[in-house]
Amino acid sequence: MENTPLITFDDATLGYGRRVVLPSLTFGLSEGGYLGIVGPNGAGKTTLLKGILGILPPTAGKVTHHRPLTFGYVPQAQTTDDLFPITVLEIVLMGRYRRAGLLKTPGSDDRARAERALEQVGLPHLSTRLFRELSGGQKQRVLMARALVSEPDVLVLDEPTSAMDIAAESATMELIERIHHESRLLVVLVSHSLNIVANHAQTVAILGGAHFQIGPVEEIVQPDTLRGLFHYDFKILEVEGRRLVL
Ligand SMILES: Nc1ncnc2c1ncn2[C@@H]1O[C@H](COP(=O)(O)OP(=O)(O)O)[C@@H](O)[C@H]1O
Ligand SMILES: [Mg+2]
Repeated sequence: MENTPLITFDDATLGYGRRVVLPSLTFGLSEGGYLGIVGPNGAGKTTLLKGILGILPPTAGKVTHHRPLTFGYVPQAQTTDDLFPITVLEIVLMGRYRRAGLLKTPGSDDRARAERALEQVGLPHLSTRLFRELSGGQKQRVLMARALVSEPDVLVLDEPTSAMDIAAESATMELIERIHHESRLLVVLVSHSLNIVANHAQTVAILGGAHFQIGPVEEIVQPDTLRGLFHYDFKILEVEGRRLVL
């Protein structure tokens, strides 16, 4: 059901040792929501993801998962996987391990689900290809399929379009939108671009230096709020139903 709280931050401070990165965060994330996190390098976006995932406990305050949650995590594009001659289907099947157990050989049901996840991301024809031979955009989609096959409650994406040209970026954002719509899961997306977040997320968190602000997209992405955060007069245009932040 929508609006059922999944994760709550109560005055939670995130940091490392004595170093505070994000002080006193209070907000909730609900089933079916879509949070976009924006901010410059080093602002604490990945730290916030770790807090949401529950792998970085708060140094003060409380982070609550309201029930056991499965996270589908799509990491930032990297090249380490390229060393191994692994097929696309094998990569996607890794997403089943957490459910099936590491030592269990994937069964026909796991394979069927992996094939279905590849269809969902628009790559059903690539299952026998080697992962390392794919384009950057295709790899990103395969990693999305790997996240989906674990049947996650929360889909977490760290800068999924940072290595893409603008056409691949639009296609990927549409794909995430479709998955969000069809599977009704909570999406948490980190992006370097306010424009991307402004057009896809329902809730926006802006991080940067001393400030943190989170709220509905229509409250955050408006000139007064942005001026307060950045001391800069942004222009926000609407072009064919899309927000354009300049
Ligand atoms: N494991 C760590 N130990 C200590 N400091 C860290 C660690 N990870 C990140 N930081 C620091 O926390 C701050 C936020 O980092 P990060 O969350 O990775 O930012 P972003 O993802 O927005 O680029 C940075 O100043 C970074 O140096
Ligand atoms: Mg980061």
